[in-house]
Amino acid sequence: MESSSPTGTRPQKGAELELSIDSLAYGGAGVARLDGYVLFVQGAVPGDRVRARVTKRKRAYAEARVVELLEPSADRIEARAPHPGAPWQVLPYERQLAEKESQVREALTRIGGFDDVLVEPIVPAVEPWRYRNKLEYSFGESEDGQLVLGFHRPGRWNEIDDVSDDILASERVDAVREAVKAWCREEGLSAFDRRGGSGLLRNLVVREGRRSGQVQARIVTSEGDFRALDLAEAIEATGVLWTRTGGVAETTRDGETDLLKGSATIEEELTCAGERLRFRISPDAFFQTNTEMAERLYGAAVELAELSGRERVYDLFSGIGTIAMALAPAAGEVWGIELVEQAVADAIENARLNGIDNARFYAGDVRTAMRPLVEEAGAPDVLVVDPPRAGLSQKIVRRMIEAGAKRIVYVSCNPTTLAPNARQLADAGYVLDRVRPVDMFPQTPHIECVAQLSLS
Ligand SMILES: C[S@@+](CC[C@H](N)C(=O)[O-])C[C@H]1O[C@@H](n2cnc3c(N)ncnc32)[C@H](O)[C@@H]1O
Repeated sequence: MESSSPTGTRPQKGAELELSIDSLAYGGAGVARLDGYVLFVQGAVPGDRVRARVTKRKRAYAEARVVELLEPSADRIEARAPHPGAPWQVLPYERQLAEKESQVREALTRIGGFDDVLVEPIVPAVEPWRYRNKLEYSFGESEDGQLVLGFHRPGRWNEIDDVSDDILASERVDAVREAVKAWCREEGLSAFDRRGGSGLLRNLVVREGRRSGQVQARIVTSEGDFRALDLAEAIEATGVLWTRTGGVAETTRDGETDLLKGSATIEEELTCAGERLRFRISPDAFFQTNTEMAERLYGAAVELAELSGRERVYDLFSGIGTIAMALAPAAGEVWGIELVEQAVADAIENARLNGIDNARFYAGDVRTAMRPLVEEAGAPDVLVVDPPRAGLSQKIVRRMIEAGAKRIVYVSCNPTTLAPNARQLADAGYVLDRVRPVDMFPQTPHIECVAQLSLS
């Protein structure tokens, strides 16, 4: 076994190495160095000494996965339960928070070139466990041929580990998953075989309205039949849906969906800036996965928008209108743009439900819809953006600069894309006033933050 690599030699893919982990990289992998060559090690934390297998090798770095923990870090705590979606549960929560805060600072400095930006203390999660309101499980088969329902084993696309207690889901969601699993076992249904393409059951998506008490289950299968209506009757959910998809890709989004029971949408309530708001959420629409922290996140967006009651606000990437509706009572008017048509329909309905009459929503791509919106509505005083992980394209940032809002509130789920976007805005005259990290995803390396930029 190699324990170090001779200068200039990069380890081969498949090689097993003994490594000492000295820090955490953005994304959550442990960082180790071999003669200056960097390895990102999944499953390791600083202070660990591990045996790891190289899974990918590049000129500048390699990726590896822990196969044995040789000497655990003194910082490690015991995991509650195996869970591929909770890799940081082996770190004390305070340490997770400190790490996230410093990763935000580091991204802004290293990638954005901001030396003295104000990064505020991270807002800790209200509930560090069982906080997710949306879970996607996969069906598979155990080695002894039993149907299982859980998560992909890390690094294995075709192996599923059964879950009987999901430490990030509520007990209610756990009960729905276990009931679906038991019913499908009883029926003798097969799991979709990701290698051969045969078999029926693919995924189970469970969504929960934490405040409304509603639960929705959507079972995803390949083309084929089963007693779907009986399954719907057998489980305690306010809505049950069935999606059939013929493709081989691991996605729960494609295919035809039928409603088997109850409502196709789910409702949730949020209190933002003192206002209690109710939202309808369609199956294809985005909703923040941590309900309690969504309130904190939107509260931060409202605060950093510093509205006086008269402003024209644009909410770009508006989803079902959550941020727009949190801002509306303090704004003159709010205009939302969102790509997913069903989400726009939800936003329009949600404004009506909440008695909000100064918000308008349009279906469109932010890239091309900005200029027409400025022509129709007039230039914005305040711009709020909440893009997906990839951040804003340079073209979108150019359109934002052109629109000339005096203030921009940037809600980001990825500080490594926030940083270059903020730099492009800063080069055009905006000042990055402050950034507030908000911990939406305890036990995971994911980082959310809200940034405020003002035209100088
Ligand atoms: C991170 S979510 C935020 C949604 C909403 N602000 C919320 O908090 O619920 C990003 C949203 O951007 C939408 N989206 C992605 N690309 C887009 C584009 N090019 N133009 C408009 N919307 C887009 C997605 O459908 C999704 O609803």
